[in-house]
Amino acid sequence: MKTFKLEDKLCSKAKPGQFLMLWIPGIDEIPLSILNAGDGQVSVAVKNVGDATRHLHKMNRGELVGVRGPFGNSFTESRGRVLLVGGGTGTAPLLFLAKRLAAKADRLSFIVGAKTKSELLFLKDLDTICSEESFLGTTEDGSFGIQCLATEPLEELLEKQNFNMIYTCGPEQMMRKVFDIAEKRRIPLEASLERLMRCGIGLCGSCMIGKYRVCRDGPVFNLSQLSEIKDEFGISKLGFDGSVIPV
Ligand SMILES: Cc1cc2nc3c(=O)[nH]c(=O)nc-3n(C[C@H](O)[C@H](O)[C@H](O)COP(=O)(O)OP(=O)(O)OC[C@H]3O[C@@H](n4cnc5c(N)ncnc54)[C@H](O)[C@@H]3O)c2cc1C
Ligand code: FES
Repeated sequence: MKTFKLEDKLCSKAKPGQFLMLWIPGIDEIPLSILNAGDGQVSVAVKNVGDATRHLHKMNRGELVGVRGPFGNSFTESRGRVLLVGGGTGTAPLLFLAKRLAAKADRLSFIVGAKTKSELLFLKDLDTICSEESFLGTTEDGSFGIQCLATEPLEELLEKQNFNMIYTCGPEQMMRKVFDIAEKRRIPLEASLERLMRCGIGLCGSCMIGKYRVCRDGPVFNLSQLSEIKDEFGISKLGFDGSVIPV
């Protein structure tokens, strides 16, 4: 995982939840969530998973890339008591949101999960935003925090505390579980979804989920929109050749 800072006037005005399309010349163009924005700059946190991200990880300061964006909608900035549930690279847009909410929300709680401690992102940043009692780290192998999935302490927390809004971003099966819990308890929820993206502006249809285009109508969806796409959310998506594949 590496963080990259890019100079781009338009994206430097992005809101939490929005994404950009990053072109790595000669290789590919990929969608990335915005981690931070301001002062003419925008940053993204990128996991090295394949061709484009591997090339990006090898690039040096000052080398040329292309940026389109910012695209998509953004999280609504809720007041009151808010809970953020993040997993893996999904923690990036939530951290951007948490920084904006820190001054507005009455209470900000964060559950963040990963397979192992080395994959838990932005722990230092989260430490400055959240108080000790409002931060919960989970790992599947027990190398940090509680040994469980990020969704396990969620039900327990919701038994004890009321929240005005839950935000989630991360692996889709994790978000689906958060959705099921929020729907059962009737707690407002916003989840940031990922789908295969090519154009990023609602033209090509590669990011369809139900009647929605994730790039244009999302990537942030609320509880009632997620209820409409229950048959696909956390279950299936379109692959590179347009066929339906499991998430
Ligand atoms: C809205 C959105 C926000 C994202 N934010 C981040 C982020 O902040 N940090 C991060 O590391 N990753 C993020 N991703 C995922 C990132 O786009 C993929 O990891 C990247 O495209 C992989 O490209 P690759 O060539 O390195 O790997 P490949 O080997 O080409 O692909 C590896 C996997 O990445 C996914 N992927 C590949 N191309 C695309 C594409 N055009 N659109 C969507 N998914 C793709 C597929 O699941 C694929 O199986 C985001 C994706 C979306 C849709
Ligand atoms: S990426 Fe083309 S319509 Fe969404």
